[in-house]
Amino acid sequence: MQFKLTVNNKKYEVDVDGETPLLWVLRDSLHLVGTKFGCGVGQCGACSVHMDGVITRSCLLPVSIVGDANITTVEGLSEKNDHPVQIAWRDIDVPQCGYCQAGQIMTASAFLAQNNNPSKEEIKEAMHGNICRCATYKRIEKAVEKAAELTQTIK
Ligand code: FES
Ligand code: FES
Repeated sequence: MQFKLTVNNKKYEVDVDGETPLLWVLRDSLHLVGTKFGCGVGQCGACSVHMDGVITRSCLLPVSIVGDANITTVEGLSEKNDHPVQIAWRDIDVPQCGYCQAGQIMTASAFLAQNNNPSKEEIKEAMHGNICRCATYKRIEKAVEKAAELTQTIK
């Protein structure tokens, strides 16, 4: 079946089964492979994207219900990799193997869009559903703090 999708502000048309999780449409049909498969059951956050700005697990989202929503993947977060979260991630040198990091960045950016002056506890709470097998959690928390500072400076 044909579906029209808006991903990173670009229009696409894909021909897939309506039950196909958005994750696989992004990766296999659109070749946007920054979004990762981790668990496939909504428990790890590796597949996180924004759906109209709201953090969404693309492994659980059938493509048939995306509709007109604007999907943002890590490839579309900024034009020059200069989103405050991306800058902070580089400054703090967060990743180890890197596998979970797109999901972490997408979760952090959706969170900071709602709350750009979070407490340490709020950061922990916002990020707690994103698993990192390399246990980069301390650096993630520092980077979210730094990104929040950068977001305030930019405004
Ligand atoms: S792959 Fe989607 S939450 Fe783990
Ligand atoms: S950096 Fe390796 S899983 Fe998170």
